[in-house]
Amino acid sequence: MVRGVRIAGVGSYAPDRILSNEDLARLVDTNDEWITTRTGMKRRHIAAADQATSDLAIEAGRRALARAGLSVGDIDAFVVATVTPDYPFPATACLVANGLGAPGKPAFDISIACSGFVYGLTVASGLVRSGVFSRVMLIGAESLSKITNYRDRSTCVLFGDGAGAVILEASERNCFLGSSLGADGSNPEVLFQPAGGSRYPASAQTVENSRHYIHMAGKEVFKFAVSKMVDSSLTALAEANLTPDDMAYLIPHQANLRIIDSATKYLKVDPEKVVVNIQEYGNTSSASIPLALAELDAGGKLKQDDVVVFVAFGGGLSWGAVAWRWSA
Ligand code: UT7
Repeated sequence: MVRGVRIAGVGSYAPDRILSNEDLARLVDTNDEWITTRTGMKRRHIAAADQATSDLAIEAGRRALARAGLSVGDIDAFVVATVTPDYPFPATACLVANGLGAPGKPAFDISIACSGFVYGLTVASGLVRSGVFSRVMLIGAESLSKITNYRDRSTCVLFGDGAGAVILEASERNCFLGSSLGADGSNPEVLFQPAGGSRYPASAQTVENSRHYIHMAGKEVFKFAVSKMVDSSLTALAEANLTPDDMAYLIPHQANLRIIDSATKYLKVDPEKVVVNIQEYGNTSSASIPLALAELDAGGKLKQDDVVVFVAFGGGLSWGAVAWRWSA
């Protein structure tokens, strides 16, 4: 059975604590001018010491349920995209389902870094369209501050925390128009958290050498990001015989304003159609796209039948885009 899928509700949550460029300049040798011109970032939201990723995800999930006018009992399965799970295992989705009041329902995580939301949207939409589930809650949630080294100026200015949730439900109208995903694991060191897994298990030495934090070759990531964003957006649109001219909104992963601007230029999209909130949240990995979507939805900007393209890239390396038709 192949049926349609739509987004029934969107919700997001970001912790209250703010880390500004000025705050960062007090921690490392940096300044507001460098951060603003090189990244577009001004502020990030940072989880409290006692807040883990599931706490952010649960709040976003509650808000998505409220927006959809549904209760948690209406959800058949829970999927969390994250690289900052509460624990290496069990899956954070299990904790989220339990926290929302749905113990016993299927729950699993997707780990594909900043591409998590677009991969998750493809997988969860497939589960709904194939008739396996009627409603799936998909949440992109991250507490990147917990794995950020606040002594490394090349990474600590970039990352923030937050969560965004969507509820996917079976529908007569199919809103999933196309998807293009990819990954290349030939050089994982370009963007990774070296220690704490099975290759470099946690030890006093890995901690001493700061190997539990995010490590990134920023320039290498930058180089591949723009072309992959452009190619995957065009391929996802082409699956539905659409072009960038048909797009009402492009919602890109918020990693760097310069990357977003270049992709906008190559795709020849009107910058007014490109959703940017990087100044407020920094890079929140798999949470960045649903955070931006929730803002757009809350602002009443999405109209029936608007074509929206979600596009991301990140650790793996990985990339992907989904073309979507908005249906309220
Ligand atoms: O979610 C996906 C994950 N990541 C990304 O998408 C990141 C992609 N890459 C980037 O966004 C950019 O490469 C960065 C923002 C990370 C860096 O910008 P850049 O223009 O590539 O700078 P750079 O690394 O070439 O560094 C230029 C200079 C260097 O100084 P020298 O060697 O020219 O003297 C750095 O040491 O800027 C210096 N620098 C800083 N200066 C002030 C690096 N970080 C900082 C800083 N404040 N925070």
